[in-house]
Amino acid sequence: MMDLTPVKWEAGCVSILDQRLLPFRVERIRCTRVEQVADAIRTLAVRGAPTLGIVGGYSVALAAQGCMSNDFNTCIEFLQKSGALIKSTRPTARNLFWGVDRVLEAAKRCGSVEEVKATTLEEAHRILREEVERDELIGGYGSELIKDGDLILTHCNTGQLATGGMGTALGVIRAAWERGKRFKVFATETRPLLQGARLTTLELVNAGIPVTLIVDLAAGYLMRTKKVGLVVVGADRILADGSTANKIGTYTLAVLAKQHGVPFYVAAPLSTFDLESREITVEQRSPEEVRGFNGVKTAPDGVDAWNPAFDVTPPTLISGIITEKGVLEPPYEESIRKAFA
Ligand code: MRU
Repeated sequence: MMDLTPVKWEAGCVSILDQRLLPFRVERIRCTRVEQVADAIRTLAVRGAPTLGIVGGYSVALAAQGCMSNDFNTCIEFLQKSGALIKSTRPTARNLFWGVDRVLEAAKRCGSVEEVKATTLEEAHRILREEVERDELIGGYGSELIKDGDLILTHCNTGQLATGGMGTALGVIRAAWERGKRFKVFATETRPLLQGARLTTLELVNAGIPVTLIVDLAAGYLMRTKKVGLVVVGADRILADGSTANKIGTYTLAVLAKQHGVPFYVAAPLSTFDLESREITVEQRSPEEVRGFNGVKTAPDGVDAWNPAFDVTPPTLISGIITEKGVLEPPYEESIRKAFA
């Protein structure tokens, strides 16, 4: 069985599974410098909101190990700069910022550079361990929503590769399967970078769960002609009112689900929630990703292309948000506040 651990600490390096090469090649990038991690995030060698949280934490730990000065304040300044570099890579996934800040805060509480080196690494390991535990809880709560014989639609990739644990939306699917429920999954390709086609189908096939791949725009016809039991997706950032940023195309699926009376669930840990912001910055990626794939052109040179990586689904279209604290229901201001209390 291939080792699909997306990120781990290995011999003083942040070892990242290069997800750009999947499903055909399993290769790791061993990052000894924070700049290499930043590059891996920018190019989506490593991706998925909770995995980005783990990577964010390990980046600060990596910077700490490379700290040349014995002066505590100089070291903290260096970590802050490294954290800022990591945070500048992608704006939407809340977990990236959360992971960096959590390890930075742990560093600031230390009394010496030696202590910073040990503490940052421990804290990053703790984030990884907690992520695995959260996924188990999310899977447990979410699996209750799945019935035998259901047809489940999911989007993008929300499995081990995206979280470091069993997954969020895909974790719900896996947990239900492990509890003996039998159903079928339809996975969207997820243009332009094909996280669904390349990664979700790989994870489901490895788990022995039946999966059918569809082009993104087949979702409407699927809901019109087959009885879809539920749609379940992940999230990159969720605001206090339940507004949810996730992979481009999620909003379209939510609208379609409403039109066809299909329950639409979001699965995410509390580390994805952003209770301070009123708006979500949606990452705009290179038009080249729309004009072709993997170096193969699929559109005329120079044609204008728009490439938002995410969209925002309003809370009115979301049936429930599956978290480690249970399934939150509308009104979300209230249920989210309670989950954090
Ligand atoms: O651009 P990506 O591949 O990082 O986008 C990932 C998603 O949109 C996922 O659905 C989201 O991060 C949730 S992962 C559990």
